[in-house]
Amino acid sequence: MRQTNMNRSQNFVNNPNLTDRRRRWFDVFGSYVPIIFSFLTDEEWNLIEEWYTETEEKHFIGEASVPFMSVLHGLIMGNKIQRIVQLGHYAGFSSLLIGFMLRKMDRKNGLFSIDIDPIVSEFTDAWIKKAGLQEYVSVNISDSAAPDMPEKAEEYLKGDIELVIIDSSHQYRHTKQELELWYPKLKKTGIIAMHDISEFATDFDSTGEGGVEKALNEWESSEPNASILRLLPQDLPKDVLLQQDHVFDRVYRDPCGIALIQKR
Ligand SMILES: C[S@@+](CC[C@H](N)C(=O)[O-])C[C@H]1O[C@@H](n2cnc3c(N)ncnc32)[C@H](O)[C@@H]1O
Repeated sequence: MRQTNMNRSQNFVNNPNLTDRRRRWFDVFGSYVPIIFSFLTDEEWNLIEEWYTETEEKHFIGEASVPFMSVLHGLIMGNKIQRIVQLGHYAGFSSLLIGFMLRKMDRKNGLFSIDIDPIVSEFTDAWIKKAGLQEYVSVNISDSAAPDMPEKAEEYLKGDIELVIIDSSHQYRHTKQELELWYPKLKKTGIIAMHDISEFATDFDSTGEGGVEKALNEWESSEPNASILRLLPQDLPKDVLLQQDHVFDRVYRDPCGIALIQKR
């Protein structure tokens, strides 16, 4: 199987149509393929390969990183987490991978995903159907901070939410609204996994108001009982962080950083 995975992986490494940023994840570890890809069946692998080709052509590039997806994979499959909400699905990379996890766990109605953009949502929905995951994943168009969404999610998931994945606007105000809306809806000991909490990622806030980092810091002081783990890059200037070699010299390899927030 390992050899098969390495062979499958080489197709990505050698594909000149893929951008370096994407290709490098199939090369960087050298002797093995990260679990988020190696657990795929041949059919699922082929679908992801096709998905990469089409998103490359359409310039839909902006999916969650391999380190972040690997943490999610460990949480979900290591704990049989069955009721998941995602805020921001973009072109569907994480929705597909989580859908594959849910299918292996035999858990239908397991992921309720929300994105404000109808174009990427239509694209994601088409890929979910193409992958045969429509019984496992629900794709929804809405602002992820809309007050009616938690109830809709609970209805679809048939119970208390166990995991919320936040990877949406990256704006300070909106992210704070998301935390205020979704944290109270979590099951006790449930988890919010947030991407882009590093100082480096504050640039992604189009309003320039401080991004996810500021939202999380402020929200934390209003929820002293929440248990928060931050995985961050080392403090380095942004131009250095952007250089692959420097980023790849870190223990947690994604310069955007993540937080795991547990409801106590
Ligand atoms: C970084 S991408 C998400 C990547 C995705 N998690 C993946 O793995 O491919 C951010 C997404 O958040 C969406 N978004 C931005 N503002 C939003 C909002 N107010 N409500 C919901 N989604 C939003 C964007 O349309 C975009 O698709």
